[in-house]
Amino acid sequence: LNYQVPRTRKEIFETLVKGLQRLEYRGYDSAGVAVDGPNKTTQDLNNNSICLIKKKGKVKALDEEIYQKDTVDLDETLSTHFGLAHTRWATHGEPSALNSHPHRSDKNNEFVVIHNGIITNYKELKKYLINKGYEFESETDTEVIPKLIKYLYDNRENDSITFSKLVERVIQQLEGAFALVFKSRHYPGEAVSTRRGSPLLIGVRSEHEPPAEHIAVQYNSGHLREEVEEKNSHNSSNSNGEGKAVEYYFASDASAIIEHTNKVLYMEDDDIAVVKEGALSIHRLNRQAGDDPVRAIQTLQMEMQQIMKGNFEAFMQKEIFEQPESVVNTMRGRICFDTNKVILGGLKDHLKEIKRCRRLIMIGCGTSFHAAVATRQILEELTELPVMVELASDFLDRSTPVFRDDVCFFISQSGETADTLMALRYCKERGALTVGITNTVGSSICRETDCGVHINAGPEIGVASTKAYTSQFVSLIMFSLMLSEDRLSLQARRLSIINALKDLPELIRKVLSLDDKIKAIADELYQQRSLLVMGRGYNYATCLEGALKIKEITYMHSEGILAGELKHGPLALIDKDMPVIMILMRDGCYTKCQNALQQVTARSGRPIILCSQDDSEVIKNAYKTIELPETVDCLQGILSVIPLQLLSFHLAVLRGYDVDCPRNLAKSVTVE
Ligand code: G6P
Repeated sequence: LNYQVPRTRKEIFETLVKGLQRLEYRGYDSAGVAVDGPNKTTQDLNNNSICLIKKKGKVKALDEEIYQKDTVDLDETLSTHFGLAHTRWATHGEPSALNSHPHRSDKNNEFVVIHNGIITNYKELKKYLINKGYEFESETDTEVIPKLIKYLYDNRENDSITFSKLVERVIQQLEGAFALVFKSRHYPGEAVSTRRGSPLLIGVRSEHEPPAEHIAVQYNSGHLREEVEEKNSHNSSNSNGEGKAVEYYFASDASAIIEHTNKVLYMEDDDIAVVKEGALSIHRLNRQAGDDPVRAIQTLQMEMQQIMKGNFEAFMQKEIFEQPESVVNTMRGRICFDTNKVILGGLKDHLKEIKRCRRLIMIGCGTSFHAAVATRQILEELTELPVMVELASDFLDRSTPVFRDDVCFFISQSGETADTLMALRYCKERGALTVGITNTVGSSICRETDCGVHINAGPEIGVASTKAYTSQFVSLIMFSLMLSEDRLSLQARRLSIINALKDLPELIRKVLSLDDKIKAIADELYQQRSLLVMGRGYNYATCLEGALKIKEITYMHSEGILAGELKHGPLALIDKDMPVIMILMRDGCYTKCQNALQQVTARSGRPIILCSQDDSEVIKNAYKTIELPETVDCLQGILSVIPLQLLSFHLAVLRGYDVDCPRNLAKSVTVE
């Protein structure tokens, strides 16, 4: 929303569409915008009219629609303007222009809304509104929202009712998760937004930058981070809103707005933000007099170049090659290689409580779950605590017993995954200590946990997670090192791991230098239908994660197989035509893995083996090998996953697929 900042409608479209493009990485199937102005095609030429343009498919298709169809006057200059834009990922109703957002109250577009999340009680609301005579045009859950606000407006007790009051009444009726932004022709130039469960932030850009001071911001008594904060300054204009030019951006992710401003404030659940006459105010739902919240404006450190692709073909490829640096960023300031001390600032105040706990429960989805599987063994060894590893959805399905003396870890790149977030709330209700392991400062998981660790891998844009995995891995290793610092019997083991962490970036570089060799293997495999990945022990997680990468972006069937289970089923799949990748490192499972290799070759299988450098015994039994540098057993998974990340990337390119935006998948799954 820009206030007293003259812009042509063309510029406004460009800002909206650019913002959507920055979010493309999240995955979507349709997109839409709403702008102020008469819609020529529908002959809606009344005052304060709102024009909607929606399109199935990529943002590019929407962009073309805006410019090719003569829908609105692109050259008109507007001094105050409020536009909405949204990309949708279908939950209720197929991908189509009609089902995409913004959704509207009626044919006159009296109220339009964009929504991120899911409304679980939409059926009841829809039935009620249909009975009242409101007509629906889409199959979405979202459409009940604009219809409901119009119903409340049509039945208002007096004409002075404010826009935000109407929104408050709407959300009192909603169940589920939402971030919402409302626009109305009855309240021109006014924006109202709110959230519950889905992320929402507000970017502020004013002509006169207010002075900022450098202080440390503490997130939920845990996540300590140096930030520039500007205190008490939601209101960038004077009280009557005169004289100051200011722009506000509402977004679910900072990357959508970072090129316009790096000053943002994060909204909390049930906050209602209103921008009216250039002034932003935030209040709570059901507020009592005097309890208006203070939401500090933070300055984000994210640089534009950080989210650009550079010279790489895809963000995923760039992120794979960033890993020598991203693991260093994860360790920076936390490991002292002289004293062998490991300090995670966000956890240090809770150390006593963690050491006293009954067990550790590690919870996540997808790749983040695999990071827990990968580090479970070393966590058990160094903490000497029982460690449970859980998929968030299954953990909730089972209503798993959780106790006050449990410590629950929530591992999530985005910090917004709905299942992980719900599991967090479930554990919190039961009094457990909650720990966030996230890559997104200010995310819901980050804010709602008692304490945590930012993995500091930098923005990850490719839908298939790569550098976040290795940084989550390193973070959990650091946690186990911190916890075992005073255990005399574990010092030699700790030392070997700390030394190995020091060499890790160099070893990752060596693995990345195998890219051409891996590409040659992809050339041979890309027309296959299936690919098995087999291993055990520390490398079982690598098999799961490698297979996930392959299925996510190449659409080939791929399975991660625990070699110990080979005889219990998977062996039936093996013949001379079934491609098998085996991970066979010189670690505690070496002999057992060799055994599995024999089983495979005895059935005419032709395994491609990831093995330790110069392992002649394995090399002679392999169809092909990728020799990897060796490190301490519990870190080997960081090195062995990289060839599989690269392999999946090359396979996807050879098969002609969009590496960064695989079909049907989203980067951040904010619905159940
Ligand atoms: C989605 C993404 C995966 C990710 C998973 C968990 O499925 O496509 O790449 O691993 O969500 O996401 P999180 O942000 O919680 O790590």
